[in-house]
Amino acid sequence: MIITVPGDKSISHRALLLSVLAEGTSELSGLLPGADCRSTSSVMRALGASMPDLPPDGSEIRVPGVGPKGLRSPKGELDCGNSGTTARLLLGLLAGLSIEATLTGDASLRSRPMRRVTDPLSRMGARFEEGPKEDRLPLTVRGGGLSPFSYRSPVASAQVKSALLLAGLTGGVAVEVEEPERSRDHTERMLRRIGCRVEEGTGEAGWRVRLAEIPRALRPLDFHVPGDFSSAAFFLALALLGGAGSALRITNVGLNPTRTGLLDVLREMGGRIEVERQRETDDPAGEPAADLIAYPSELRGVTIGGEVIPRLIDEVPILAVVGARARGVTEIRDAEELRVKESDRVRVLVENLGTLGADVEERPDGLRVSGHDRPLQGSIAVHHDHRIAMAFGVLGALPGQNVVVDDPEVADVSFPGFWRLLAECAGAVEGGRAS
Ligand code: S3P
Repeated sequence: MIITVPGDKSISHRALLLSVLAEGTSELSGLLPGADCRSTSSVMRALGASMPDLPPDGSEIRVPGVGPKGLRSPKGELDCGNSGTTARLLLGLLAGLSIEATLTGDASLRSRPMRRVTDPLSRMGARFEEGPKEDRLPLTVRGGGLSPFSYRSPVASAQVKSALLLAGLTGGVAVEVEEPERSRDHTERMLRRIGCRVEEGTGEAGWRVRLAEIPRALRPLDFHVPGDFSSAAFFLALALLGGAGSALRITNVGLNPTRTGLLDVLREMGGRIEVERQRETDDPAGEPAADLIAYPSELRGVTIGGEVIPRLIDEVPILAVVGARARGVTEIRDAEELRVKESDRVRVLVENLGTLGADVEERPDGLRVSGHDRPLQGSIAVHHDHRIAMAFGVLGALPGQNVVVDDPEVADVSFPGFWRLLAECAGAVEGGRAS
């Protein structure tokens, strides 16, 4: 079977934000139409951008750039919905502008830490006023008057790194960020594309990135967003576990090396995945993409930690599910960041796998699961977390399993059409089901 997955969420957010800051009209296709990216386009509209609706089929839109000076303070609150990327990148972008805005979000987003970006942005000169809960949304930003800044981040987070780079961009100041491990570099690539000079390399305490030069006018984008590797991950897992019949080809998947840790780990587990029709592999301002072909495979458990974790941070839910069906023990370490995602993913994975009858243990920085082939059955609680819903959806689509997901609609955050595609793929197997 041949399938495609929707556009990359991280790249779509950045394309929307940067095309508004450019001077001239950007032409964007393949954008993710999911709820998170709709949050980004609606907050940019509230800030004065003229942003077309995101087409459900990823067809091209034209975004007229207004330049950083074309944005204005919004009338009401900026609702970032469920999207941490919208909130944190926007805090950075607004920090460099003479704008006052209050950001808020849904219950999940209002429970996530924001000082990881507001603390360093305050040190650059932006001002923040917190609401009733410290370190959380809602909070108000008053931007402008920034100074050049060099920051050593305690966490490997692309949202922190990107917030600071965007503050440097809109505030017109040089910024340097060092992170303990290299996180996804979509912002760096796209900044180059709009004309900035971005330097990067090994630093004293990890990976160092520097926004070294900002052109007077930012170039508009002409860009096609590839399919989201994090969305493809669910279907790679389905195919390897034999839930899609024979081989499954997923076309035009983004293969940025800062995102593809799961590919390495699934192969180490014994998974057969082939890569064909690669493009844009060497362009430092582009995004590599290719077709992935996954075959049913005998999988064994694996222990992971360290450098690979930021490269697969969003794929841990599906990796834990794969671990529950692989031979032997799978252990995930150094992944404490999972506790501040859309849900506390360590806790929610352990509780749900336990409910279904898997043999699983919680660790402060991850989890340990012993795989087996007994049928897993029960109802799981997704806690407003799209990736938890989809990971358990894949498990439920495997022959002989019976899993009920309490809030399937939440998948729309990053993957509109997920359940239909899952049912189609699983329907290719006798006895397969996805509900
Ligand atoms: C993202 C960065 C990651 C990731 C999130 C998207 C981004 O978060 O988990 O889904 O687009 O920059 P952190 O930066 O908090 O690790």
